[in-house]
Amino acid sequence: RCNVVVLISGNGSNLQALIDSQDESHPMQVRAVISNRAEAYGLQRAATAGIDTQVIDHRSYASRDAFDDALIRAIDTYQPQLVVLAGFMRILTEAFVQHYHGRLLNIHPSLLPQYKGLDTHRRVLAAGDPAHGCSVHFVTAELDGGPVAVQAAIGVHPGEDIAALTARVHALEHLIYPLAVRWFAEGRLRLGDRGAMLDGEPLPANGHV
Ligand code: GAR
Repeated sequence: RCNVVVLISGNGSNLQALIDSQDESHPMQVRAVISNRAEAYGLQRAATAGIDTQVIDHRSYASRDAFDDALIRAIDTYQPQLVVLAGFMRILTEAFVQHYHGRLLNIHPSLLPQYKGLDTHRRVLAAGDPAHGCSVHFVTAELDGGPVAVQAAIGVHPGEDIAALTARVHALEHLIYPLAVRWFAEGRLRLGDRGAMLDGEPLPANGHV
């Protein structure tokens, strides 16, 4: 089975979607959940599911390098084939990203390459965009810039408020993240030299399939 370690910082609803997607026949198994915040609700979700949890508080480390070293040591005790960022709100060092090259996925609440960074739902509404969505991508040194693996879009409703739009994008995330992780665990999704590959075929650079 494909051992997975999930990194979180907060609520962990994407973690929950991954937990809910795994069963006896699933090729992946969430082995551990690591949070940089002790109060992250996702830690309780993991504990309820009988999954190991660890807190590695970035404030206890003098530098980003030292924090990322501690993370790597904790993660690698589980020898994961895949590391999944699920609402993990720390920027990772290039050394960390290199260490997990090709086996590090993130979910981002926008139609990448649009709206990298924070506050995506507010920015989409402010721009009056007709569509919004979310993207699962391989993590590279460029923040929110790695090759997209799966992307899903929805139309923005006229007059829709930020809470409603956020909730609808979240629901989409809960569909596509388990899908991407399943494909990875099945060996169907991987990072090639020129981008993400599904079933041996390159995915378009912008992720639309
Ligand atoms: C999700 O919307 C995820 O896309 C976003 O944080 C939320 C975490 O929710 N991630 C980022 O913005 C990464 N820059 P969750 O804790 O309920 O899964």
